[in-house]
Amino acid sequence: MRSRAHLHQREPAIEFVPVSIVEQLNFREIFGRDAPIEVDLGCGDATFLVAMAAQNPDRNFLGIERLLGRVRVACRKIARSNLENVRILRLESSYAVAHLLPAGAISGFHVLFPDPWPKRRHNRRRLFTAEFLGAIDCALEPSGLLHVATDHADYFLSIYKMITTKSSFSISEEATEFPITAFEQKLAGNGAAIQRLLLRKVSPVT
Ligand SMILES: C[S@@+](CC[C@H](N)C(=O)[O-])C[C@H]1O[C@@H](n2cnc3c(N)ncnc32)[C@H](O)[C@@H]1O
Repeated sequence: MRSRAHLHQREPAIEFVPVSIVEQLNFREIFGRDAPIEVDLGCGDATFLVAMAAQNPDRNFLGIERLLGRVRVACRKIARSNLENVRILRLESSYAVAHLLPAGAISGFHVLFPDPWPKRRHNRRRLFTAEFLGAIDCALEPSGLLHVATDHADYFLSIYKMITTKSSFSISEEATEFPITAFEQKLAGNGAAIQRLLLRKVSPVT
């Protein structure tokens, strides 16, 4: 059995701490190879990321999470999995997308159960805004994927409206099965209706 000390030693490599938070990330340096990159925004304890990374060894996965406790849990989980294709960045998602991700570098974003901020006066704290979607659009490669899931009907509607009034994404009908997230596991059994959107970046016609 591997000791806790051994797991602890690997954590800094799994948690990627940028030297500068005003320079764009260099994914070849972070992962030690070139491969398509998927980003999980608000990745929580990395349950989803670990499952995705295990199923897709030819792809790189970056989880972005702002809470220190969750980053620590995520790093321990990744260390136990022995996966080499997952990294965690502790930062605020919309800042990271807008300022650290190179244009056209990301093959897919997952935004799974983003905090809904249900009180009307808190709605402006929600992650999904027109600016956020613009930054996602810019970071995605042509035909890149944006995968969103929420159990909050009002938040879903507001995201849906934003997407359908913006021509940069089209709703995809592809039947894709994704691993269940930790938050989704907690919802299971309480009858919550989960709404999911798979969107593809539409390249402008030239
Ligand atoms: C409801 S949890 C869902 C976690 C995970 N996606 C899942 O489905 O199990 C929302 C997560 O997003 C993180 N989060 C919320 N807003 C964030 C932001 N602006 N930047 C980074 N992380 C954020 C929270 O700390 C929390 O871990």
